[in-house]
Amino acid sequence: MIRHIIAAIATLLALWAMYYMYQLDVEANRFGEIQKLLERTKMEVKVEKKEPTQVVQAASAPSADKEAKKKEDELQKKLKALRERAGNAMAFKVSPLYKQKCSSCHGVNGEGIIGPRLIGKSSDYVLKALEDFKSGKRKNYVMYGLLSKMDESQLKALADEIGTFEAKLKAQGN
Ligand code: HEC
Repeated sequence: MIRHIIAAIATLLALWAMYYMYQLDVEANRFGEIQKLLERTKMEVKVEKKEPTQVVQAASAPSADKEAKKKEDELQKKLKALRERAGNAMAFKVSPLYKQKCSSCHGVNGEGIIGPRLIGKSSDYVLKALEDFKSGKRKNYVMYGLLSKMDESQLKALADEIGTFEAKLKAQGN
């Protein structure tokens, strides 16, 4: 009898160990996926860095026809958009308030991530949006929750700052 019980316990332990190993495997796979994703982002950044030489080559190569030039331009545009999206490429400095409270969703320079792009929106427009979110006239839980703890002068300061984003970006040659 006791032998049977021990055998049963041993079997259970073995099954549990197998399950545990399986879970570890799943985790490892997930980790691998993340690494692959990171790898891909790195590659994109590398391509970006190469672009100036590519431009020079395309421009100086005598055989470069219009088609190639057009493709090159398109690539440039895409890369620019990508660069704007890559949150780590900060083109200009922002206030600590914006950085802390807004950049995680709207991007370090307002380029937009989860939240919409703010570059190019006027101070007046932004202030109105913020006031409407805060009052609940414009319904959005995320923005409401954030702004409910801010006072009018902070909203104004943020709106004024965001209104300057486009000019600042242009000044950086983007
Ligand atoms: C957790 C994510 C998140 C954070 C943090 C956040 N926002 Fe938003 N924001 C959003 C989302 C999502 C929307 C879109 C809501 C909608 O249109 O209903 C939005 C909309 C806006 C809009 C309206 C844009 C438009 O095109 O009408 C403005 C302006 C804005 N946010 C400014 C800010 C400011 C300023 C801060 C920092 C105080 C901030 N947001 C922080 C997610 C966020």
